[in-house]
Amino acid sequence: MSNPLFDPERYQAVRKPLLEAATLPPACYTSTEFFEREIERVFLRNWQFVGREEQLEAPGDYFCYEGPGGSVIIMRTAERQLKAYANSCRHRGSRLLTGAGSCKRIVCPYHSWSYRLDGNLSNTPGMQQTRNFDPAEYALLELPLATWDGFVFIHYGSPLASLTSYLGDMPDRFASHRCADMHHVGSMDFDINANWKLLAENALEAYHTGTVHRATLGQQQASAIESDGNWTGLLVEDERSVATLPGATKPFPHIDGLDGGARRGAFFTMVFPSTQLVFAQDCMWWLAFHPVSADHSRLTLGACFPQSTIDLAGFDDRVKSYFERWRVATAEDNAICEAQQDGQKLARAPGRFAASEFAVHALANWVLDQVLDS
Ligand code: FES
Ligand SMILES: [Fe+2]
Repeated sequence: MSNPLFDPERYQAVRKPLLEAATLPPACYTSTEFFEREIERVFLRNWQFVGREEQLEAPGDYFCYEGPGGSVIIMRTAERQLKAYANSCRHRGSRLLTGAGSCKRIVCPYHSWSYRLDGNLSNTPGMQQTRNFDPAEYALLELPLATWDGFVFIHYGSPLASLTSYLGDMPDRFASHRCADMHHVGSMDFDINANWKLLAENALEAYHTGTVHRATLGQQQASAIESDGNWTGLLVEDERSVATLPGATKPFPHIDGLDGGARRGAFFTMVFPSTQLVFAQDCMWWLAFHPVSADHSRLTLGACFPQSTIDLAGFDDRVKSYFERWRVATAEDNAICEAQQDGQKLARAPGRFAASEFAVHALANWVLDQVLDS
């Protein structure tokens, strides 16, 4: 019998045009069944952003991506390729690595099987008597990995579309930011008691800024942008970069060669399902929302600047005002999303959208496209 939670009839009001549409019902943010369907159909079937290439500069550099399909090792091999491996030993399945670091071999902490950087088994102590055991058959399981201008994505299954076709026109649209020439300068992690969609939705509208960020960012005005592919977004028009708080002194110069559109402001995009890439006039930053359970998420915020900006005298000092802006505004966003999660526990009826919530409506409908029964 089909589950009424995934019956398209139930969501007809969300499917209407923006100004006639209802918001998603609260069960979409609280139900474990709905969450598990999202993991299966949204997160395991689509490309996932995991970080930046330059986070792994030398052979043996790695970081672990704790994603919705399990822990994955992102590794720079001896041949300088990037690889993604399931973070699980081929012997009896122990996790192999945690966090980030650098290694010459991946050595299992349980019985010391060791793997080369290319994932092949190199040493299996104590296995001499085991019959028909061919170490070549027990390399680390590899996941599809693809990059665009330094952004690294993995896939937990077999991608139906290449990363390039998944992203549609996004790489072209932000080509003048030259993200391939940017460098990651730092990250921040947050644990939030809210469903991943509440966080992603909040990142897709400026309606809340005059209330939630009244004393910090202030009210922002956003307009819709056209998008083709698995992403959406909005433009916050401002001559100054909104990557620092209003009144911040000594912001960095704008990126050389930005095209006319890119000079107009900051583009708050969302690569579906849950990675916000923000292209501002002086930097780019990302908010990667990771689902943990129906009412709990993790967020990684990472920041990138052009090398020419990083080379400026006093960069380390001047960049502090950027991290201050991200720390302050993110704390305000996280707190309001936790308050919103609390409000979903009541059996409330769905609400309505303001015209400025076009991208929230787009995300809700993209999710429904994936999870509902056909
Ligand atoms: S589980 Fe890794 S060596 Fe035994
Ligand atoms: Fe916000």
